[in-house]
Amino acid sequence: MINTEYYKDLTKMNTFGMKVKARCFVEYDSVADLVDIEFGELSRPVLHIGGGSNLLFTEDFKGTVLHSKIEFMEILDKCDNVSDAQVLVSVGAGVAFDDFCDWAAKEGLWGTENLSYIPGEVGASAVQNIGAYGVEVKDIIHTVYCYDTLEEEFVSFSVAECGYGYRDSVFKKSGFKGRYIVTHVVFALSREPKPVLDYGHLKEAVLSSYEGGTDMEKVLDHLTPEMIRKVIIRIRKEKLPDPSDMGSAGSFFKNPVISREHFLRIEAAAKAEHGTDFKVPHYDLPDGYVKVPAAWMIEECGWKGRRSGGAAVYEKQPLVIVNYTGNAYPEEITGLEKRIVASVMDRFGVELHPEVEHIPQ
Ligand code: EPU
Repeated sequence: MINTEYYKDLTKMNTFGMKVKARCFVEYDSVADLVDIEFGELSRPVLHIGGGSNLLFTEDFKGTVLHSKIEFMEILDKCDNVSDAQVLVSVGAGVAFDDFCDWAAKEGLWGTENLSYIPGEVGASAVQNIGAYGVEVKDIIHTVYCYDTLEEEFVSFSVAECGYGYRDSVFKKSGFKGRYIVTHVVFALSREPKPVLDYGHLKEAVLSSYEGGTDMEKVLDHLTPEMIRKVIIRIRKEKLPDPSDMGSAGSFFKNPVISREHFLRIEAAAKAEHGTDFKVPHYDLPDGYVKVPAAWMIEECGWKGRRSGGAAVYEKQPLVIVNYTGNAYPEEITGLEKRIVASVMDRFGVELHPEVEHIPQ
């Protein structure tokens, strides 16, 4: 079925809760319906959304918003080039990503557990290369299936062809964006335990959640994807606002990558200010560059918990800008964004880039 609505209220279709309308809204619930859509006749621009969890609408949308309700999850039969422990599962683009994580964990399949409780849908996850707690979705993607709206044919991209980077893929590049619509994604999960516990204090959190003792060997023997999923959900609930309570789009900014010399200057200044024992959080990257958490810089600039009209910097995680009152205007969010970017530039000489996509750009 294809459902078409005009002047559609998008408030509930973007987790920021911006009160905007789309001139035209088209929702389809099968691949056959997607093919029936006359793309040439849609009012432009055309924007395909998922769960609306990474978007900031700054005004009413003048064109057509498309949304997929292709919702299925199935385990595929064994095929070549897949090891015995690997299980291929095919998931429709319109499935809520966390419903997929929940299902996979209950099936005892490893791979999605660290990505639990991320808002958004499966199709968008493959475009954005969502990531959390040491895992990115590219690590479990096998093939992304799309409809090419230009050539009007189905195409598939192996994970290598998707050009994945940090919150990036080929689907975000010009020439691809707007042309390919993800219909479903095949993930390679595992029946063999594959816990990824190296991020931050995740290992300690998992250990302390296990009631049978804290002997790592023993815990590893008993670990299940569901146990890790529970811990991840608890951590995320502690740190990130639940979109049903307070609007946001998760991390507003990407974590910047800077040169080693630049980092050493920042570190020297921080030690001069906070004392020689002070440690600037950072992650060394293999190519000699350093990733510095934007949250730390924003906090250092004094933004944590600060309000500006209806918008605020989230008090538990300053990387997140929230719709504090539920009635924030887009300009209040973007005004706060600009002031944060300017103060981080002023203090650290680092340019923050939004992770959130502004519509229109
Ligand atoms: N930090 C502070 N102050 C704070 C919070 C964090 O200084 O109040 C510093 C700490 O040094 C901490 C570091 O920031 O060690 C990293 O914090 P965290 O582990 O929360 O990760 P993040 O870099 O803030 C990224 C992703 C999140 C993902 C988490 C967990 C980006 C832009 N964000 O955040 O993804 O959940 O790691 O893996 O990469 C999202 O993309 O919407 C998102 C929530």
